[in-house]
Parts: sequence; structure tokens; C-alpha cells
Amino acid sequence: MRSPARQQAKGTVPELAPAAGAIQETRDRVKRAYGSAIGRHRRDLVTPALILDLPAARRNIAKMAERLKTMPAKIRPHIKVHKSPELARLQVDAGAIGLSTATIWEAIVMVRSGLDSIFIVNTLAGREKLAALAEIAREAEVMVAVDDPQNTADIAAAARTAGSEVGVLIEVDTGMDRAGLDTPEQAVELARRVAGMEGLELMGVTGYEGHCSLTPERDLRASRQRVAMSTLVDAAERIRAAGLPCPIVSAGGTATWDWTATTHGVTEIQAGSYALMDNFHFPMAGDFEKALTVLATVISRPPDRVIVDAGNKSLGAPALSTMRGHDLKAMRFDEEHGLFIAEPDYPLHVGDVVELVPGYAPGTVNWYDAYHVVEGDRVVDVWPVIPRGPGHGGLIS
Ligand SMILES: Cc1ncc(COP(=O)(O)O)c(C=O)c1O
Repeated sequence: MRSPARQQAKGTVPELAPAAGAIQETRDRVKRAYGSAIGRHRRDLVTPALILDLPAARRNIAKMAERLKTMPAKIRPHIKVHKSPELARLQVDAGAIGLSTATIWEAIVMVRSGLDSIFIVNTLAGREKLAALAEIAREAEVMVAVDDPQNTADIAAAARTAGSEVGVLIEVDTGMDRAGLDTPEQAVELARRVAGMEGLELMGVTGYEGHCSLTPERDLRASRQRVAMSTLVDAAERIRAAGLPCPIVSAGGTATWDWTATTHGVTEIQAGSYALMDNFHFPMAGDFEKALTVLATVISRPPDRVIVDAGNKSLGAPALSTMRGHDLKAMRFDEEHGLFIAEPDYPLHVGDVVELVPGYAPGTVNWYDAYHVVEGDRVVDVWPVIPRGPGHGGLIS
């Protein structure tokens, strides 16, 4: 997937793609804009502010690494959750074999931040994105999901133009009803085509069982996970039986990670939310700590409610958000208002600062420029959130 010597891209990556220098510029810009927070108490920040409890995130990453030591699968964590090269580096240092991303832009940022072996766990289409994919494959090991013959041929053509080789995993729909081929036979058929295409390297199959994350009931989730993984492993075995390579069998999110990591035939998992955790995933993976919060200020205090300055433009899945240390029921979230039900004498007043645990971490992080990284009560650093992608609040800022 990489040409023999690590080469610089030739400049044909679309302008949208950040160069290494642009990533450093973003870091500098974030330092300039938010750096005055460093050294302050975590409660003394301009709100809403994204707070990363670094020791808790480290413990989550270490716990996952430790538990995987006794399991057959490795982890290639999904970084769309945090969009942070710094957190990705911690995961790799803890033993991750590479990184999974949702977008080409995330992949580029990881590669240009010096990280390697990146799997874009989504299908990609569009001339510029395929050109960017092919170019970045000159700099690092890069893989992408495919489920369509013409799209696969287009990726191969882009790779040949760039003089690179792109790793390809056949996406199988294991029950989520999202992208992916419906049957193992179709997977074998596409694998055959991939194997014959110059510019591509057939690396295996992928089949994220995301519908299991939407199944809070444990036994039903477990049975859905088993059906999903038997479909995926069956596809891998049939590809091998056809005489084709299939070294990687990749699946697994935080809601199913340990079942999937111990499923015979699965070689790696793509879990991501375990690192930051949130209220959506916690009931299904309560071993991991909630390391992400949003600091907010009470801005109004009618008799029956507390209103904070973090609404649905500051929180992902706001309805699932909770107020740390306060047993108040979420009532409603407008754009810049978060409403919680509270008795008239409940001791929260205008100007008080609270911390909200988001419903969904990936959708929260995407609203922010930077993490305020805390250890205990002190802000020790500010880290950029990059990239949010074209059309989603800017690529790298
Ligand atoms: C394809 C894919 N793989 C892995 C994950 C990671 O799942 P989780 O964040 O639940 O660990 C996701 C999350 O949406 C995903 O879309």
C-alpha cells in the first residue's frame, strides 16, 4: 500500500486536505485562542468548553489494551470519536495496530500527524476524495472499505495515477442495513475483482455490527452480534476458499467489543467510544470511565428549571445528557439553552458552573475547536479537534 520509499505527495491532493504544516498551524492557532486556559481551574473557563479528563482517558485506553492481551483480536480504534492526533497517539502507544477513520480527511490528518496504518472504515466516492486517498497511500499504509465494483475500479484507477497501492476491505452488511454487500457470495465476487486490479491490495473484510449498539437489551444484543459475526467470518472463509487473500476480518464497536474480539475468525476490532465514553454507550460498556464533559454556566433560573448555556449546538444527543453531581432530569435543549427540571429551592443559581456528560461523544466533539485537557482540577493543555471536514465547520479548524 505504500510505494517503496516514503514519499511526499506530489501536490495533487485537493486543497481541502491539510498538509503537515497546516496541522501545526492549527495547533498554534488553538494554543493562541485557548492557551490562556492552561493552568486555570477547570471550573474557571469560558463556557461552553469541551473538557477531556486525561487520566480517565488514559485509564480507558490502558484498560482496553490490557484486556485485549488475552483475546485473539487486536484493536485499530475508531478515531472519529475524538478526532485528535494526540489521543490517537496514546492509543497507538498502548498497542493499537493502526487507526480506523470515518473520512478521508481524518485519515489525512492522522497520516500527516505521523501516524500509520489507517483504515477508512467507510466507502468513499467522488473524484477528489479518491485522488486524496490514492495520494495519501503514497505516504502511509492506507485501506478503505468497498462494496461496489465500479467504485472499486475508480479507486484502482486513482491509485495507478498516483503510483500508489490502496488496501481494500470488502464491506459486508452484517445486519445494520447500512453500506455493505448482502451476501458472502457477493463478497467473494467483489474480492475476485479486487484481486485482479492493479493499484489495489485485497486485505480482507469489514462488517461493523452497529445495529447491536442500538440494542440496549444484553441478550438480544449478544444474539445479534453472533449472527452478524457469523455472516462476516463466513464471507472471509469463502474468500479464502476461493484462493484469495483475506488477512483482516474487522468489526466491533464499544457495545460489543469483547464478544467480537473473542469471536473466532475476527482479527481486529474498530471500537472507538471506549476512549471517551458517553451516556449512550455507558450502559453497554460500563467498565470505561466518562472522560468527556462539557462545562456550562447557569444563565437563567426560573422557579422550576435550571437553564445552562450548552444546548443542542454544544452537545451530541443532548436528550441523553446529564449534569454531573446533580440528579436533575433533562427537559429540553434548544440551540444555546440546556434546560433541566429543578425545584425552586434547588441550590443552583445564575452564574454557577456545571459539567454536563454528553449523550454522544462523537457528536459533541465535532462542535468544538479544542479540548481543554485536565488533570484533576487543572487545565494542563489544549488540544485541537481536527478535522471536522468540509461542510462540517471547517476541515482543520
Ligand atoms: C464503521 C464503524 N466502526 C466502528 C465504530 C465504533 O463504534 P463505537 O464508537 O461504538 O466504539 C463506528 C461508530 O459509529 C462505526 O461507524
